[in-house]
Amino acid sequence: MAQTENTHQLDRKMLQFSMMEVDGILMPQAFEGVWERICNFQARPDDTFLVSYPKSGTMWMVEILDMIHNDGDVVKCRRATSILRVPFLESKFINMEGAGSGLDFATTSPRVLVTHLRAHLLPRSIWEQNCKIIYVARNAKDCLVSYYHFHRMTSFLPTPASWEDFCEDFMSGKLLYGSWYDHVKGWWEAKDKHRIFFLFYEDLKKNPRQEICKILKFLGKTLSEDTIDKILHHTSFDVMKENPMANQTAFPPNIFNHTISPFLRKGMPGDWKNHFTVAMNEKFDEHYKKKMAGTTLTFHTEL
Ligand code: A3P
Repeated sequence: MAQTENTHQLDRKMLQFSMMEVDGILMPQAFEGVWERICNFQARPDDTFLVSYPKSGTMWMVEILDMIHNDGDVVKCRRATSILRVPFLESKFINMEGAGSGLDFATTSPRVLVTHLRAHLLPRSIWEQNCKIIYVARNAKDCLVSYYHFHRMTSFLPTPASWEDFCEDFMSGKLLYGSWYDHVKGWWEAKDKHRIFFLFYEDLKKNPRQEICKILKFLGKTLSEDTIDKILHHTSFDVMKENPMANQTAFPPNIFNHTISPFLRKGMPGDWKNHFTVAMNEKFDEHYKKKMAGTTLTFHTEL
């Protein structure tokens, strides 16, 4: 049932996460009691981890990885909603009412798991077991826009006071999971020391077949051209948007209000141009230059 903006505001009061800081990074307060257990998570050598800053195309990659994992079996990939098929590492330990409470990991290996954690906060055993990690990165401006609309539609995050205020919060890293700049830079550095495949949302959008073939190579898996075609179709924006197991409508409407903004919103690099004013763009670019000085990491901001 569609929710009105008013009832959504009421739900927000009840469901909004209280926040705490871990190493200066905003995280749900609910992690406090379980942080030690997150840190002590026991990885297995054949676990694959998908890592991203929020709104970088995580659920898109979840769908791609689940399809790869299940050899392109569309029926199997509709067995449950995304986060039950490929669970969030952090969610294993907390009880997010209505949002997958009682989440548990598949016991059968190989497992695929997701996390938004920064590289230096990743549980040690994931490094020790030399697990394969796929990091998906998205340009800052589109990430910001997507995060802004996500804050509007979900009741567990505060409603942005204004678009301008939200931009300031993004630039200063005062959002859940902290600074986009530090997240992408930390993982970019980590990729030279660990088994990490660093992937860009914009490349995936531009040439999904090529990027999926790179992922397959990284995972040491071979699939037929027909199966790759099936994966491309099943994970395209339009097909995912209509798939209730991938479009996040399985979450109760008091958690994700798709009438305010759908989870699969635009799915297009360059949408930031519809949001940024000239003055805001100049300010953002200047700040970006400072924050990203000294890194070789570069992004495409449109196709
Ligand atoms: P927009 O809000 O710009 O549309 P995450 O899963 O990390 O929260 O990221 C959500 C973003 O990924 C949303 O961006 C969503 O539309 C986009 N996305 C999800 N599936 C996609 C797909 N198949 N193709 C392109 N973008 C996709």
